[in-house]
Amino acid sequence: MVTIIAAVGRDGAIGRGGDLVFHLRGDMRRFKALTTGHTVVMGRKTFESLPKGALPERRNIVITRNEGFTSAGTERAGSLEEALRMASGEEVFVIGGGEIYRQAIDAADRMELTVVDADSSDADTFFPEFDATEWKKTSASEPMTDEKSGVSYSFVCYCRI
Ligand SMILES: NC(=O)c1ccc[n+]([C@@H]2O[C@H](COP(=O)([O-])OP(=O)(O)OC[C@H]3O[C@@H](n4cnc5c(N)ncnc54)[C@H](OP(=O)(O)O)[C@@H]3O)[C@@H](O)[C@H]2O)c1
Repeated sequence: MVTIIAAVGRDGAIGRGGDLVFHLRGDMRRFKALTTGHTVVMGRKTFESLPKGALPERRNIVITRNEGFTSAGTERAGSLEEALRMASGEEVFVIGGGEIYRQAIDAADRMELTVVDADSSDADTFFPEFDATEWKKTSASEPMTDEKSGVSYSFVCYCRI
């Protein structure tokens, strides 16, 4: 099972200046709960944005063209296809960023999206548009409000039809 997991604004915004657009405690909690114990696949830029490097208690696969890439707690893959081959038979979460989501969307079975009810005027990275006829919304939480920012969000799960 390959699952894309992302926090996405109304306008598709996901990133700004190498960082997340939305820092929502509830989203972080859910990300940790869903991905812990499994394999996370990410682009090199997303890896570099992680404040403490490799995510603990998860197999971390970083996609980069740099054959010399090494970093504690990670394995390198030269492409998305290679990353998915390395993790075949495992529960895989593709955790970003924009370039990698775009390449992974056709290979994914499921999307766990945190849909954020906000725009970002200065975002520079966006979630790819996807063909709604290929996906079925299987669950959607009630809207929640982030205590710190006051931003409203909900968890929406899609499965490939
Ligand atoms: N909202 C969210 O849920 C979320 C989640 C994750 C990330 N983000 C945000 O997204 C932004 C980063 O996304 P991004 O699109 O700029 O970068 P990215 O997808 O994280 O990483 C891009 C890098 O991945 C490698 N790569 C991409 N395609 C490849 C291929 N086919 N073969 C080999 N290597 C490949 C390249 O690394 P090399 O240059 O090393 O070759 C490339 O520069 C950040 O702002 C981050 O905070 C948001």
